Amino acid sequence: MFKAVVFDAYGTLLDVSSLSELGNELFPGKGVALCELWHKKQLEYSWLLSLMGKYQDFWSLTRLGLQYAGAALGLSIGDTQEERLMQAYLTLPPYPEVRTSLLRLSQRYPLALLSNGTPDMLESVVRVNNLETYLSHVLSADEVGVYKPHPKVYDLVIQAFFAIPGEIMFVSSNGWEVSGAKSFGFSVAWCNRAGATFETHAPPPDLVVENLEGLEALLP
Ligand code: LAC
Repeated sequence: MFKAVVFDAYGTLLDVSSLSELGNELFPGKGVALCELWHKKQLEYSWLLSLMGKYQDFWSLTRLGLQYAGAALGLSIGDTQEERLMQAYLTLPPYPEVRTSLLRLSQRYPLALLSNGTPDMLESVVRVNNLETYLSHVLSADEVGVYKPHPKVYDLVIQAFFAIPGEIMFVSSNGWEVSGAKSFGFSVAWCNRAGATFETHAPPPDLVVENLEGLEALLP
């Protein structure tokens, strides 16, 4: 039994790829490339700043990633378009099974969110998707001023649940985060939605599932 099941947000519960629809509406044929590069740069900046011992919040990095992606792809993103894309980040939809799986899982375990997103970003996506009733904690890396996979961020979960790392089942769809969470000592489920390749530099996850329904079936 685990003391809590804790989820990453972007790409795990929330469908970041859905942004490409708005991207295509604004820049026909470029939506997928724009959104992939946007997300990649946003994350890269979070790791770079963390290595440099610096911090800018995730909302700023989201905007900087978008500006980089636009420039790299030769798109001139005007202020209104930039604002529409940024606002869409605040209303990202969950993957189809997320709400019902969280409902069922919340009857078995305390559930929480641990994300690089700022408290405002997380408050917004949790509220618009009516997820608040399932989550006992919404934890943000902003509280410690460094990004995942820094252990200080995962330690927020330990403090929230008075747990030792192995008592937490951490769930992420991001390969880099699976290795970070495993290195911290969490029990880890990789929700490998995209059929991605296993990371080779870290211990493998304890569980591999395709979506949260698969997780429900495998948890004790
Ligand atoms: C999160 C992103 C990085 O922390 O997946 O929610």
